[in-house]
Amino acid sequence: MSKEEYKLNTSSTALQDRLGRQLHDLRISVTDRCNFRCVYCMPKEKFGRDHRFLPRDELLHFEEIERVARLFAGLGVRKIRLTGGEPLVRAELETLIRKLRAIDGITDLSLTSNASLMTEARARSLRDAGLNRVNISLDALDEATFHRISDVNVSVDQVLQGIEHAASAGFDSVKVNMVVKKGLNDHCVLPMARHFHGSGKILRFIEFMDVGNTNGWQSGQVVAAQQIVDTISRELPLEPVGANYPGEVAKRWKYKDGGGEIGVISSVTQPFCGSCSRIRLSAVGKLYTCLFASEGTDIREALRSGDDDAALLRRLRALWSQRQDRYSETRTQVQVLQPRSKIEMSYIGG
Ligand code: GTP
Ligand code: 5AD
Ligand code: SF4
Ligand code: SF4
Repeated sequence: MSKEEYKLNTSSTALQDRLGRQLHDLRISVTDRCNFRCVYCMPKEKFGRDHRFLPRDELLHFEEIERVARLFAGLGVRKIRLTGGEPLVRAELETLIRKLRAIDGITDLSLTSNASLMTEARARSLRDAGLNRVNISLDALDEATFHRISDVNVSVDQVLQGIEHAASAGFDSVKVNMVVKKGLNDHCVLPMARHFHGSGKILRFIEFMDVGNTNGWQSGQVVAAQQIVDTISRELPLEPVGANYPGEVAKRWKYKDGGGEIGVISSVTQPFCGSCSRIRLSAVGKLYTCLFASEGTDIREALRSGDDDAALLRRLRALWSQRQDRYSETRTQVQVLQPRSKIEMSYIGG
């Protein structure tokens, strides 16, 4: 794809990367810990007792995260998503949410969670702190498949209740993320679609991705988004809907009978790097310009050594201006078979 084809509909003064993409989203991982051990993310063999999580005293403080977010807002970021690991295991997350909510220019503040800790009271306190939206992971409705995937002593019911608690708390939207892996939970696509049809929650089907080095990804395990849409549409007819904003990750489809909408995230079969507007901040203060990056840029040192805002802004601006990542568009079998080291999903939060 040529540089011209990458040009988004952007103003000439906005900060753009080398492929003409404008910065818009900041994804902030607040912890690399999680109480689940999903086989496609934190398989127990690799994330067992011997796994060394980030030491707590190395995590960015909330004030530091807020400062980075405020600087990014000055460079065009409008949307912030909190991720993990599981973000709800980070103590006093509401304090961070309140700080981020107060930043000028941030119009959308959301969170991606497994919902196991989403009690009624927690959902309300997150909403009261200023969180706009939540996306909740759920890969199956039957206990056996759910346990085979999440490898944890939490029931489907607990997650479904967490979803209901979020819905009752009045978030602007509650979405459900289902990662689809062939042979593992592709038989759950229709039951999930039927369950959430007409519920007001937006179910999104995510192609299994080769993030990190531990999930044993093989291309044959991917179920193409189009196939998922076709399967559902045969029973519950669907039609496409336009994106909410340029660069939205999910492609939207709505039920023709008025039963709401679904989304598909087709990073493998129909990559969307051409409109990728996301930067990621790890829990220890490394910035990544791609989900599939090997190396991040440390800014914790600069934050702690007294650099002023102007100096930090120069670094952030330079990082985005030099960016030319487009991994999903260049993924080849060779890369997958001879992998370079990539950061783990649980470290960067998807
Ligand atoms: P919305 O703001 O509600 O649209 O959420 P989102 O889809 O941007 O975020 P979420 O955390 O729910 O992620 C859903 C899936 O999209 C996860 O599997 C993410 O890893 C994946 N995803 C998000 N951003 C990117 C991206 O830039 N590249 C790739 N390849 N996948 C992404
Ligand atoms: N491929 C696709 N999606 C993944 N997620 C975690 N690991 C993978 C993977 N290998 C999803 C989670 C969560 C979101 C942040 O990313 O299920 O919903
Ligand atoms: Fe935890 Fe989410 Fe990874 Fe599952 S996908 S192990 S819930 S961070
Ligand atoms: Fe953006 Fe990298 Fe994902 Fe492409 S693979 S959409 S560049 S994060």
